[in-house]
Amino acid sequence: MMVLGIESSCDETAAAVIRDGNVPLSNVIASQVRVHERYGGVVPEIASRKHIEAVVPTILQALEDAGMTLDGIDGIAVTRGPGLIGSLLVGLSAAKALAMARRLPLVGVNHLEGHVAAAFLTDRPPAFPFVALVVSGGHTTIYRVEGFQRFITIGRTKDDAAGEAFDKAAKLLGMGYPGGVVIDRLAKQGNREAHAFPRAMRESLDFSFSGLKTSLLTLIKKRETPFAADEWPDLAASYQEAVCDVLVEKTLRAATLSGMTRVVVCGGVAANSRLRARFQTDAASLGIEVFIPPVVFCTDNAAMIAVVGAQLFKEGRRDGLDLNAVSRWPLTVC
Ligand code: KG4
Ligand code: ZN
Repeated sequence: MMVLGIESSCDETAAAVIRDGNVPLSNVIASQVRVHERYGGVVPEIASRKHIEAVVPTILQALEDAGMTLDGIDGIAVTRGPGLIGSLLVGLSAAKALAMARRLPLVGVNHLEGHVAAAFLTDRPPAFPFVALVVSGGHTTIYRVEGFQRFITIGRTKDDAAGEAFDKAAKLLGMGYPGGVVIDRLAKQGNREAHAFPRAMRESLDFSFSGLKTSLLTLIKKRETPFAADEWPDLAASYQEAVCDVLVEKTLRAATLSGMTRVVVCGGVAANSRLRARFQTDAASLGIEVFIPPVVFCTDNAAMIAVVGAQLFKEGRRDGLDLNAVSRWPLTVC
């Protein structure tokens, strides 16, 4: 079965073709990073306009890279939410138009479930059940995952998402955009113990990152002169370590408490090199197996959406052309 996946929930227009539920034949991502860079964050109105420009060429490229035409596609999976409504509507409208014109089955996919499903795009997919940490620009949630569509929330952020904590820190310091990527790079040359940043709510499985951001702001305000660029690596390394500490500790504790020996780490922040390394080493000592998708499948992509779509098609699920986008869509309890 060949599924065409389409994703446009934030600032990446993406399309991919997946064979047999987990083999990516193509994975095209048109990033808008350079467009939003000058604003220091995603501007929703601009994002939707850019999606409109990119959506058709991106889909055509995904088909071409997979060596096929729409004739070879058996179904279309599209991100329905959560995300920016104006962005989601572009991918959704394109998917509906194709489904109608080609009489192809259509299914709407939850973007967060897509992030978790990215773990299946490898030679070594995790067996259910497992604990999953979805950590991105908009979400930081620990789930117990019993199967596709069967998620139980065990912990979540009470305020900012971890990706947001990175993005806001980089913006406060004027380091560049997108913050997570910049901090990851700078931290490689920095001392993780140079600055003491707080680790909030250590006892709980929920997260809070707003205090971390405030402590950075306080540090900046206490100084008479702004931090110079040569001071950034130490700041980046110390700040990144504070984020990684809580993410790793709480996720592994959640796994231990629920008797799980498998942990999936996914979403844009799972691209972070220190987080990936920390999870591997800390989990090994607890006898927990960690599954982190390749970086290209951690940040937003359509291959992960097609994986969920293929599963839903297999279960006989179909959506009608009245399918609407939703800005909020928690992965519900089974
Ligand atoms: O999953 P994603 O691409 O979009 C959302 O669904 O939000 O995640 C984007 C987030 C941004 O906050 C970005 O700064 C962060 O992922 N990110 C990273 C890295 N690459 C992307 N954070 C830390 N280290 C990275 N290497
Ligand atoms: Zn995402």
